[in-house]
Amino acid sequence: MQVIVATGNAGKLREFTRIFAPFGIEVVGQKTLYPELEVEESGATFAENAFLKAQAVHALSGKAAVADDSGLCIDALGGRPGVYSARYAGEDTSYPEKMQRLLEELKEVPQGKRTARFVSHICFISEQGERIDAQGVCEGEIGFAPAGENGFGYDPLFYVGERSFAQLGGVEKDALSHRGKALRALVEQLEQLYTVDGAGEKR
Ligand code: IMP
Repeated sequence: MQVIVATGNAGKLREFTRIFAPFGIEVVGQKTLYPELEVEESGATFAENAFLKAQAVHALSGKAAVADDSGLCIDALGGRPGVYSARYAGEDTSYPEKMQRLLEELKEVPQGKRTARFVSHICFISEQGERIDAQGVCEGEIGFAPAGENGFGYDPLFYVGERSFAQLGGVEKDALSHRGKALRALVEQLEQLYTVDGAGEKR
């Protein structure tokens, strides 16, 4: 099975490729097919934005499409940056800058109160137009300084136990991450859709 991933984010695309591979799902990135496509993320929730992205690619291609909308929700900031994680501190700021800004906002918040979670909402639309949604959450804490070189986005600031996401190998991150959980939950639902149709036949 082949799926178009509705993202221009190379970090996300690497994770989709790695997480789907054991299930025999091959991915094609949106940028390869539609380099100019920009979908406005005008929704108020992760679910709405994931749908907007998957729907845009499905409408253009007529093929199976999948999108992730995700973000970092920090308790001490009332859940921010949340759906605005990619736009936090301005769309064109680098991640080192965004992380410095977050550290500044959290400078009075002590260890133990720096709890946060990454949330991923996945929306899949089959070639025939059926929609499947799945979610994954990973609980952690915001560190006091970025650490690690792996991953993307806010990974160097997000700690699960002693190590930041950016200090984990890719497969280790996938086992714990919001996106890993959401994509495995999606695959469980896809297995229902694609192995058993109304007549019990494989699609
Ligand atoms: P969006 O889903 O395109 O709105 O972007 C989600 C944003 O949330 C990313 O650009 C990152 O800033 C952040 N994010 C989501 N998942 C991760 C992750 O696994 N690691 C680091 N940052 C992430």
